Amino acid sequence: MALTSRVPAGSFPTPPRAELEAIEARLAAQGRLVEEALDRFLVSGETSPQVVHQAMRHSVFAGGKRLRPILVLAGAGVAGMGPAGVMPAACAVELIHTYSLIHDDLPAMDNSPTRRGRPTCHVVFGEAIAVLAGDALHALAFALLAQTADGSAIPPARTVGAIAEITHGIGTQGMVGGQVLDLLASRGPVAAADVRRIHQLKTGSLIRACVRVGGLLGGATRDDLEALSRYGEDIGLAFQIIDDILDVVGEEAKLGKAIGSDAAQAKVTFPAVFGLDVSRSLAEHATAQAIQALAPLGARGEWLRDLAVFLLSRER
Ligand code: IPE
Ligand code: IPE
Ligand code: MG
Ligand code: MG
Ligand code: MG
Repeated sequence: MALTSRVPAGSFPTPPRAELEAIEARLAAQGRLVEEALDRFLVSGETSPQVVHQAMRHSVFAGGKRLRPILVLAGAGVAGMGPAGVMPAACAVELIHTYSLIHDDLPAMDNSPTRRGRPTCHVVFGEAIAVLAGDALHALAFALLAQTADGSAIPPARTVGAIAEITHGIGTQGMVGGQVLDLLASRGPVAAADVRRIHQLKTGSLIRACVRVGGLLGGATRDDLEALSRYGEDIGLAFQIIDDILDVVGEEAKLGKAIGSDAAQAKVTFPAVFGLDVSRSLAEHATAQAIQALAPLGARGEWLRDLAVFLLSRER
């Protein structure tokens, strides 16, 4: 994507309200399925050591959008596999995402007081328990990924491939690498390519891995995986650009997290580097590219297309 492209803001056709509502209803239904499964996979807050289990639950059951697990289910759907077999993997990515948020909110990182409409994990449980709750969610995620090999539906080699995919997406060449660059960067003459790289790594890598993991577990062909990869990369970038924009123009009550925190911390964001209008255009451009990448999937790509369009109009 050329960061210098100038698609006029608002040029992306907004779907009719009825269409957006139908997408929202489908997302809510899938979110509920994920929520129920997460509740089964996480032990109760009564289990010893109680405080860490309570901290994990505090952050997991706080109204997240569940986008990443829904992308795993969607990727599997492209390969013709239903949600049941891939649900542990779908929950695993949500646990990894939640661990990353707990750590991202810590005073040593973004120092955020609220998340998903609640006080952040470290505010309620203290920093040490918040670090450990994140670590525990990370560990549980890999236990769940390994579980996908338990049933007969998914050959063990696919599970190994999915685990490799996730580890790549969240390591130093992925999410953690992006978080490091995010912390090291400070506002100033930042090259367009730098902010794009930060966003692709810190957020795009996990999102791309989610659609790919769904596809891998479902047995997608090489061509389908290629389409899923390009789609995931583009919506991942669009997702973080919109996150940056919402930090400037969003409503705190809807977002469930403080706005204005990027500016307060002189974060290198798309609005800081390009301004709001160009950032919006770039998010639209990335979304259009994501949709284009789905072309080889034909009708099998419709739900992913709907998701991409929806994410552009999100307010939370
Ligand atoms: C927030 O992710 C952090 C980013 C990577 C931008 P989400 O906007 O998906 O947060 P939840 O899961 O819905 O709370
Ligand atoms: C977070 O990016 C990315 C990861 C957690 C990997 P942000 O710092 O922009 O996310 P928010 O705005 O706090 O949700
Ligand atoms: Mg951050
Ligand atoms: Mg943050
Ligand atoms: Mg943000």
